[in-house]
Amino acid sequence: MRTDDELSFDEFDELVSPRPEVTDFDRVLELAMSRRDLFKGVLAVGGIAALGTHLFDNPAAASDTRFAFTAIAANTNDVVTVPSGYSAQVVVRWGDPLSADGTEFDHATRGTAASQTVAFGDNIDGMEVFAHQGKTLMVVNNEYTNRSIIWGNRDEGKFETSDDVLKGKMAQGLSIVEIAQKDGQWGVVKDSPYNRRVTPDTETTLTGPAAGHDLMKTAADPSGTTSLGTWNNCGNGSTPWGTYLACEENFNGYFSAPDENHTVSSELQRYGVSATDWGYGWATVDERFDVSKHPNEPNRCGYVVEVDPTDPSSTPKKRTALGRFKHENAEMVINPDGRVIVYMGDDERGEFLYRYVSNGVFATGGETDDLLENGKLYAAKFHDDGTGEWLELNPESSGMASQAEVCIHARIAASTVGATTMDRPEWVSANPNAPEVYVSLTNNKNRGIEPNAGGDPTPAGGPNPRNENHYGQVLRWRPDGGDHTVNGFDWDLFVLAGNPTVHADLYGGSDNINADNMFNSPDGLKFDQNGLLWIQTDGNYSNEGDFVGQGNNQMLAADPVTGEIRRFLVGPNECEVTGMTWSSDRRTMFVGIQHPGEKGNSHWPEGGDATPRSAVIAITRDDGGLMG
Ligand code: FEO
Ligand code: CA
Ligand code: CA
Repeated sequence: MRTDDELSFDEFDELVSPRPEVTDFDRVLELAMSRRDLFKGVLAVGGIAALGTHLFDNPAAASDTRFAFTAIAANTNDVVTVPSGYSAQVVVRWGDPLSADGTEFDHATRGTAASQTVAFGDNIDGMEVFAHQGKTLMVVNNEYTNRSIIWGNRDEGKFETSDDVLKGKMAQGLSIVEIAQKDGQWGVVKDSPYNRRVTPDTETTLTGPAAGHDLMKTAADPSGTTSLGTWNNCGNGSTPWGTYLACEENFNGYFSAPDENHTVSSELQRYGVSATDWGYGWATVDERFDVSKHPNEPNRCGYVVEVDPTDPSSTPKKRTALGRFKHENAEMVINPDGRVIVYMGDDERGEFLYRYVSNGVFATGGETDDLLENGKLYAAKFHDDGTGEWLELNPESSGMASQAEVCIHARIAASTVGATTMDRPEWVSANPNAPEVYVSLTNNKNRGIEPNAGGDPTPAGGPNPRNENHYGQVLRWRPDGGDHTVNGFDWDLFVLAGNPTVHADLYGGSDNINADNMFNSPDGLKFDQNGLLWIQTDGNYSNEGDFVGQGNNQMLAADPVTGEIRRFLVGPNECEVTGMTWSSDRRTMFVGIQHPGEKGNSHWPEGGDATPRSAVIAITRDDGGLMG
């Protein structure tokens, strides 16, 4: 993801808030170098396979493959490519009106604040389909907006008026739409009573340990129980009781102060909040984003937000018990004893992997409101011997005064207990056929080079084995005894992405990567009901150097048993492929195409000289068969 043509969100944060110097940097480097020597030694005696049990132990690919499609080649075409026998169509795009009397998207102006407020949001990410009383309700995260696109009608792609700023603000949040398939074409049911936008201005309720804490109180909300809006919603989750979980990721980049020398607290610095925003200008139209005036406002975002798509009048609930960090997605598992488990990644270089375990148990038709309010929060520690443990974050282990503070400052608590710094944990997905869980560790150019934002060292090793990791990997773990509530687990790496046409060492990737299926930066991750693992990428699409032959961002399917990986889809130019779900009959797979043309080189989906627009696409088999 990028905020402009040059800088990713992380890069921007590191520019305005350089990594702290509290770490003994020499020690970090020394450790990293010793790791490098270790791997050199390993490689000298037999390459990746010699790393043994920690680099996946997949049996050879079975001849009776579980894949229903023929793999496609990488490409750099400004279209969506799917295998022969499959078709892709656009369902809904950024700026499409949600009602029959709404204004159609204007390619010249790219809309106004008023039109955007009642139109589909931008930069599609996590999504889910809900069957409700015979209707199909789709909830989609609208993660952020590319300034050069949404303000592409302005000089230099920057906002010029307060309406420009508000338009950008209203393009974020969630879009909830009823969709239907007519004559084979999926589309929005305009004027459905379920169509709704949840924006950065929608009222939300704060629940759980942090609700009402002094750190959550602001001038506008002295009770600390009601906050306005949700934004930068990245991946998602869903619950067996029919609600949607929207995950607030890079929430920090919207706060600023008039005095660019204003210094925020060290706790806010840990989350990347500073006097400088990412160029969205929200504080110019909404004073609560002025962090010098309202220093507690950033404590009220960075959560998992639960939304009921079946009740358009319902108030979204921020679930503070699940911790505050840059949430990627929220993968819920119901443990055999009925307790609710939520696995979550914090997507920033060197941040952590988390688990939530409810106190209560889920029962179909039973009360569920408590399940995401009362429970325990943990961060993961990985040992080099292929085992690991969940470390509980509580006042005793963190030294903090209350569980409220633990939740609000979850990153700091996880640092205190010594959790393992990870290569940017993105989506987590649990295998429906086995007690094992997978997470994308998308990449980390700082691995072995710089500590994380809290000063924790990031030496290569364990599940993050490569310094300056530009390719990423997918990690998996299996809880001891198949019980997701116990603290011990075993782990290995399912795949190390890489480029075997360029590198013969660890950067060439693991044994299940070859010239025909290579990719970089795994991000979106989801199992289908058959137990195939779908992998989406958000990486380097230069198609040159270390990335030659990998083409545009893409989607692949993986067999968790054999380790086989096949490329299924290639996205248009300069997009990220992210977010996926299936229709109730599983004959349609919905996929998100985010920010085509983020550097100015796409006109997808309309072609010609049209403004590029993020969109949800529907993929079906030409023979009407199942999609997963
Ligand atoms: Fe929004 Fe970490 O991707
Ligand atoms: Ca992502
Ligand atoms: Ca990403």
